[in-house]
Amino acid sequence: MVEPIRMTTREHRAAALAEAGYNTFLLKSEDVYIDLLTDSGTSAMSDWQWAGMMLGDEAYAGSRNFYNLEEAVRQYYGYSHVIPTHQGRGAEHILSQICIQPGDTVPGNMYFTTTRYHQEHAGGEFVDVIIDEAHDPTSLHPFKGNVDLDKLEHVLKTARRVPYLSLAATVNMAGGQPVSMENVRATRALCDRYGVPIMLDGTRAVENAYFIQQREPGYQDKKVADILREMCSYTDGCTMSGKKDPLVNIGGWLALNDAALADKARNLVVVYEGLHTYGGMAGRDMEAMARGIVESVQDDHIRARVGQVQYLGELLIDWAIPVVQPIGGHAVYLDARRFYPDMPQINFPAQTLAAELYLDSGVRAMERGIVSAGRNKHTGDHYYPKLELVRLTIPRRVYTQAHMDVVAESVDAVYRNPDKPKGLKMVYEPEYLRFFQARFEPIRE
Ligand code: F0G
Repeated sequence: MVEPIRMTTREHRAAALAEAGYNTFLLKSEDVYIDLLTDSGTSAMSDWQWAGMMLGDEAYAGSRNFYNLEEAVRQYYGYSHVIPTHQGRGAEHILSQICIQPGDTVPGNMYFTTTRYHQEHAGGEFVDVIIDEAHDPTSLHPFKGNVDLDKLEHVLKTARRVPYLSLAATVNMAGGQPVSMENVRATRALCDRYGVPIMLDGTRAVENAYFIQQREPGYQDKKVADILREMCSYTDGCTMSGKKDPLVNIGGWLALNDAALADKARNLVVVYEGLHTYGGMAGRDMEAMARGIVESVQDDHIRARVGQVQYLGELLIDWAIPVVQPIGGHAVYLDARRFYPDMPQINFPAQTLAAELYLDSGVRAMERGIVSAGRNKHTGDHYYPKLELVRLTIPRRVYTQAHMDVVAESVDAVYRNPDKPKGLKMVYEPEYLRFFQARFEPIRE
C-alpha cells in the first residue's frame, strides 16, 4: 500500500503548530510530511497479511483466526496461554490488575509510560533497576537495557512484596537499547532465588534478539527466531503491543505460562477488552497479526528494519549531531540537552526541539523527556529524567533511505540554527499520560 505525502510551507506549519499547542501529538496527519512520531501501528502490512485480512472469521466466539494467533505466539515466543487484547496497554492493564496489590513494588529496567501507569493504577510502585549507563546518552555500552543485578537484589531484599520483575526488551525510554541474553539469564537466576516471576514487555523483543545476534558472543550463527525463543524461555509471561514488532496497525496480547493466572486474565479480559478469543480485535486483525509474527522473526526482515534505523543514526553521527549512542532498534534519539545547552529542563528542551523540527521541514517526532516522565504520584512534583530526548521513530517497511536523508538534513539545519529558541511553557496539563494531550506556548523573552 502506498500513501501520498504532502509538502507544506513554513507559514502553514507555523499555524498548524500553534493550533496544536506545540505538541506533535495534536498535529493533523495531513499537515505532516514525514511522520516519525512513532513506529506504533504505522508499519505497512505485506501482501500475505492483506490476503489474511480477507480470511477473517468474524464469529463472536472461537474464531479460527484466534487459534492461528495462539499457534504463532506459542511457536515463536513459546508461551502456553495467549489472551488477546486490543493493544499493548490492554495487556498491561489486565496483567497489573491480576498480579499487583496495593503497596507492592514493581522493579523494572526503566519505566515505560503506559506500563508504569497501569502498575501505579493497580496500587504498585515502580522502581528503576536499569544499569546506570542507560541514563547516559554518550555511553557506548552494547546492552544499555541490562538490569543492574545489585539494584534488583536490593529491591528484592527490602520491598514488602514484589509481584514480578517488569523486563523490557528493547528499552524504549533508554533509546531502544537491548538487554543481553547473559543478563536475562542472570536476572532469571536472581529472581528464582527470591521466588519472583519475570514478565517481559515483548513489544520490540525481535529487535532485541537481532542485537543479541549482532553483538553477543556465541549468537552470531543463531537465527533471530531461535534467540527470541531462548530469551522468552527465561520469563513467565509477556505483554505485547502488536503494533510494533508484529507488523500490524492494531492488536496485542498477554501471554502467560501459569494456567491459574491465565484463567484470571481470561476472566478479566471479558470485562475490559472482549471475549477471550478476540480481546477487542476483529478476526481479520488477529489473522494479520498471526502472519505478522511469522514475518517479523525472519532474519532478512529484521536486518533491513534495524538497518534503516542505523543508516539514519550513522548519518547524524557523521555530521556530529548529538544522538543517543549506540543507535537503538526502532528509533534515533536526539539529545535535546546538547541542542540547547542553556535551556533549563523546565522549559521543555525536547518538546521545543520536536516543535522546531516540525517547523523546519514538516518532519514529526516525539518528546521523550520531562513531559513524558510526568509527575510523582505522591508529591505531585515533575520527574526530572536525565534523558531529555526527541525520538525519530521509523515505521517498518514504509519509508525509503531518501526520506531518511531529508530527515537528517532537517535535523542538521535545526542543530546549526544560531537562532536558539527559549523554550516552552505548559499551559494545559492533563491528569494522566500528559505528553499525549498537553498544550504549550513559546517563551518569547
Ligand atoms: N510497551 C512499550 C515498550 C511500548 O513502546 C508501548 C507503546 C507499549 C508498551 C504500549 O503499547 O501502544 O499498543 O498500547 N509505545 C508506543 C510508542 C505508543 O510510540 O512508543 P500500545
